Amino acid sequence: MRVPLLLIHGFPHGRTAWAGQVAALSDVADVTAPSLRGFDEDGDVVVPPMTIDGYAADLARHAPSPVVACGLSMGGYVALALAARFPEKVRGLVLCNTRAGADSDEARAGRGATAQRVEREGVGFLADAMLPKMLSPEFVARSPGVAAEVRAMMARQPAGAVIAALHAMAARPDRTPLLASIRVPTLVITGSADTLIPVSESEALAAAIPGARLVVLPGAAHLSNVEAPDAFDRAVREFLT
Ligand code: MLT
Repeated sequence: MRVPLLLIHGFPHGRTAWAGQVAALSDVADVTAPSLRGFDEDGDVVVPPMTIDGYAADLARHAPSPVVACGLSMGGYVALALAARFPEKVRGLVLCNTRAGADSDEARAGRGATAQRVEREGVGFLADAMLPKMLSPEFVARSPGVAAEVRAMMARQPAGAVIAALHAMAARPDRTPLLASIRVPTLVITGSADTLIPVSESEALAAAIPGARLVVLPGAAHLSNVEAPDAFDRAVREFLT
């Protein structure tokens, strides 16, 4: 039986962030890339107050058997929540461009202000502000079409889902104490040019999880699966097989 691979998107993304991996890895894994609560829906979506553990509970409900949980950034926060709260559902972890720590007070305040602005103005300004944090300037210059798709993916997310995720991330617990107790095979992936979550955070994450392997993709920024898909897919494929 092929390994069930659950791809968990970041913020403010949607399941299409993983389109490349769904296509590239389906020969070795049963790949699913669900949308977190409210994301990818149309119109004025009403999302109840969410927590990162709540997103993990949504995913656990739909996971038929233990999965390899692969999450990028916010998706990594959710993958760690799955490992903490539903360990029986997790047989492996791929933690991409993510961290275990909680928000600082300053980051939390920033999320609150962003949520208020999304409430007033919608998501367009956020897509513009996030794009340079997601992709390196070199990649945007080289692949303007892909960059435009990434911006459009962010801009079409419903405000309700985005606001709920901002509050969920702000309130997330520090998962650092969990890391030493993780017993499933773990791969940590990042890009050398990630400015949103610097490489040092991924190094610390990999060092704290017993037996975890770290892969740093040269030149890739935060959306490492989009910027360096071949190397990203190769690393995940090797890990799965
Ligand atoms: C993400 O890419 O999922 C978010 O930027 C993570 C975060 O804001 O902490």
